[in-house]
Amino acid sequence: MRSSPAAIVAAFCMLGVAHAQDAIPESLTGARGDAARGRTIVANRQVGLCLLCHSGPFPEERFQGNLAPDLRGAGTRWSEGQLRLRIVDSSRINPATIMPAYHRSEGLARVAPAWRGKPVLSAQQIEDVVAFLMTLRD
Ligand code: HEC
Repeated sequence: MRSSPAAIVAAFCMLGVAHAQDAIPESLTGARGDAARGRTIVANRQVGLCLLCHSGPFPEERFQGNLAPDLRGAGTRWSEGQLRLRIVDSSRINPATIMPAYHRSEGLARVAPAWRGKPVLSAQQIEDVVAFLMTLRD
């Protein structure tokens, strides 16, 4: 079954509304992510690159960034939906942010044909990272 163009446009408009509200409350995959996989993505120097800028509870990682807030306590400071939005596209919160948009949805209708600008992280990876960040409670 194929979605009609109108349905796709409507879906992206709804995403836009969620963004405007400072959160993406719904899981991008419709399911909960895996926190253990999320931790691996965050700590990985090739995939997430999060530790280029952030530090966090990763005793095994010797070099961690100091350009951004420590990730400890992220699950207390933010709701799941707020974290999701910050990973998907931080520029929605702070247009001048240096944090990359890991799963930008904006403009997909224009970029379309071969999903030219593939997102850095897949929807599943975003959910895994969000699940991991939700475990950071101190
Ligand atoms: C190039 C630097 C950079 C990278 C890479 C980066 N971030 Fe960020 N991040 C920032 C900055 C700077 C902020 C502070 C808010 C702002 O300026 O937008 C931030 C904010 C955040 C916040 C909110 C922090 C808080 O508690 O106030 C979370 C959560 C976060 N980032 C998670 C991640 C994750 C997870 C990754 C990897 C998938 C990542 N970031 C990669 C720079 C970065």
